[in-house]
Amino acid sequence: MDTAGTLKLGVNIDHVATLREARYRGRALGEPDPVEAARLCLGAGAHGITAHLREDRRHIQDRDVWRLREAVRGRLNLEMTHTPEIVEIACRLKPDIVCLVPERRQEVTTEGGLDAAGQEAALAALRRRMNDHGIEVSLFIDADPRQIEAAARIGSQFIEIHTGAYAERFHDPAARARELAKIQSAARQAHGLGLRVNAGHGLNYQNLPDLFRTPHLVELNIGHSIVSRAVFSGLEAAVREMLALMSAYGRS
Ligand code: PXP
Repeated sequence: MDTAGTLKLGVNIDHVATLREARYRGRALGEPDPVEAARLCLGAGAHGITAHLREDRRHIQDRDVWRLREAVRGRLNLEMTHTPEIVEIACRLKPDIVCLVPERRQEVTTEGGLDAAGQEAALAALRRRMNDHGIEVSLFIDADPRQIEAAARIGSQFIEIHTGAYAERFHDPAARARELAKIQSAARQAHGLGLRVNAGHGLNYQNLPDLFRTPHLVELNIGHSIVSRAVFSGLEAAVREMLALMSAYGRS
């Protein structure tokens, strides 16, 4: 098994912005700040930061990605769909890498990754344009041999294997083994075709160790479970801080 190098962690900070937008949508302010979250993640040793600028701007906003570009000294991975507006932003922003993901139903394969095989010519043109701007390209695809062959023909530098089905079926041992076998075979195939292999979606503190039996992994992109864990690892300190503040009541 090719285990050369450390397995890298890209932290997806979208859900920090989700929490902010739940209270401050439409106002260019508010907490928690995803850029501050990115700084903390990098300070804790994360290798990169991932943010998804969605067409509907449901969490990350334009100002966030520009501030992230300034703040992130590590690798900035912009998840995006290939619409003209977002492509223009990426060309100006120059993240280190873009990960192309589906946002519209017709871009999605049956299990949820990008349908690279169904739009090879358009994705190859986009891949060239991004590379010309000094930006690497990753395609978020299912562990499906057809999609991996298409990714190689498109010339993307990376694929990100969609681990959602594995995560969903983790508690059913037979289904979990099937999904894991698909991921392992996809990683081998992609590596053999010269693609570098990332993985992500639905990974958490329980389902990660089994995934380590997959060869050739370069980076994992993990968001929801880390942000969820942070709520509990930080809640006691936050309550203590509030009580300390309240203890000043009546003293002045
Ligand atoms: N990778 C991609 C391409 C994603 O779109 C996402 C967010 O859905 C993730 C990784 C992170 O997934 P999660 O938040 O479930 O860890």
